[in-house]
Amino acid sequence: MTVPLPLATLGSRFLTLLDAEKAHQATIHLLKRGARASVRVPSDDRLKVSLAGLEFSNPVGLAAGFDKNAEVPDAMLALGFGFVEVGAVTPKAQLGNDKPRVFRLRHNRAVINRYGFNNDGLDAISNRLEKRSKRKGIVGINLGANKDSEDRTEDYVTSLKRLEPHVSFCTVNISSPNTPGLRALQGRAALDDLLSRVTAARTTDKPLFLKVAPDLTDEDKADIVASAKAHNISGLIVSNTTISRDGVAEHPDAGQAGGLSGAPLFRLSTEVLRDFAREVAGDMPLIGVGGIFSARDAYKKILAGASLVQLYTALIYQGPGLPSDIIRKLPEFLDADGFSSIKEAVGADVR
Ligand SMILES: Cc1cc2nc3c(=O)[nH]c(=O)nc-3n(C[C@H](O)[C@H](O)[C@H](O)COP(=O)(O)O)c2cc1C
Repeated sequence: MTVPLPLATLGSRFLTLLDAEKAHQATIHLLKRGARASVRVPSDDRLKVSLAGLEFSNPVGLAAGFDKNAEVPDAMLALGFGFVEVGAVTPKAQLGNDKPRVFRLRHNRAVINRYGFNNDGLDAISNRLEKRSKRKGIVGINLGANKDSEDRTEDYVTSLKRLEPHVSFCTVNISSPNTPGLRALQGRAALDDLLSRVTAARTTDKPLFLKVAPDLTDEDKADIVASAKAHNISGLIVSNTTISRDGVAEHPDAGQAGGLSGAPLFRLSTEVLRDFAREVAGDMPLIGVGGIFSARDAYKKILAGASLVQLYTALIYQGPGLPSDIIRKLPEFLDADGFSSIKEAVGADVR
């Protein structure tokens, strides 16, 4: 499929001259106005993935945080992504943290962000998702909690009830480092309570994923898997951004508070993915995220246990041709190792 082109500027030098948040706003604005990059999206049966009742045309998804307000999911699907996760949404609209709150560490191919769940809120986002819900393409929603909420668990319940009918899947995101205390919901007792209340609120059998941080102890990981299994969670998304700065070369903004994403996150998030793959022992699908810049990176996540992958930061540096490029090259990696499908390759490194 070729998408009409007025926009070679996506991910281009022009946008890199703007500050990171303005560049992002400009990109969303152009996409909303119908700008499209010219992308030939390959299709290959070997890349098809069946997971939690959904049929993915390929395993490469757009991670949450790019389209926070569900304004351009279809434009992003047109770039070749096999699925798109929008959000995070919180019940009430929220401004997020003070600016500046997102920093590009160019030589590290990394980003540090502390947006803090800025979003248009449940009403606006639900209306947008409802309007497009009859269209083709797998679009899921990332659920967050308001900063000033008295009962954060109730925030997930409220958003899930409203949005589940309009999306293909929901993700409970308790791993953003930018809402103080949020990651404490990953602890065993809090997580059991959260997952029992959220799963009780489901009205469909659409998949419900749980997205975790990479900064976890082995005990945390075991607890998360036990809780997720006990509540029939459809899969784990591994991982969100990290609070560590390991692998970051000297940069004036390296010490900024927030979550680090991009190339320096690849190693940590893939190790954590591998740990989760061993822990779930084939009983629960995993979605690998963190520092994917190429088909080779995506393939490494698959070998480490991911049935699907997602990316965001690489899109900033590589531009809109990246998903189709990865999709085009992934089969070569399968071939080289003698696999005839993604499914055969999943977790080959941890078996
Ligand atoms: C600017 C920015 C905003 C993000 N916002 C969210 C969010 O709202 N919810 C979420 O679950 N993850 C969010 N993420 C994390 C990404 O979804 C992803 O897990 C992480 O960036 C690692 O992937 P990457 O290295 O390919 O970017 C955000 C990441 C960035 C860079």
